[in-house]
Amino acid sequence: MLSEKQIAIVKKSWRLLRDIDPALLGDVFYSRRFMAHPELRPLFKGPLETQYTKFIDTLSFLVSQLHRLDEFTRDVAVMGQRHVQYGVKPSHYDDVGEALLWTFGLATV
Ligand code: HEM
Repeated sequence: MLSEKQIAIVKKSWRLLRDIDPALLGDVFYSRRFMAHPELRPLFKGPLETQYTKFIDTLSFLVSQLHRLDEFTRDVAVMGQRHVQYGVKPSHYDDVGEALLWTFGLATV
């Protein structure tokens, strides 16, 4: 369970990235991921530009759901099931976290 204060911090931090053009943000974020883990690149079959927007929009949606933990958990579980079919393994989520923090670092310089 997140406290109101924790939710406010996440929302405030996310707004820093949300103001950046998703095409630019996605390019930086996915480039970082694929440089660190080139083996992940072949999992992405569609155009990356579309993926940038989907990823950023989904994160925005999830951040907006943080105060509704039931819905949040359900939405993440459904998305996780789709990701199993894409060939994603639990350990791959660590690299998303690392690349996101790295992107935050750049965005807040
Ligand atoms: C915070 C975690 C993540 C979020 C919010 C996220 C978001 C998304 C979204 C919105 C899509 C579009 C299709 C759909 O909704 O099913 C997608 C597709 C995909 N994601 Fe993720 N994802 C996350 C983690 C990961 C991880 C860890 C990987 C590991 C490589 C990954 C690989 C993929 C792949 C391969 C696709 C399909 C793309 C394609 O077919 O071109 N995602 N993701």
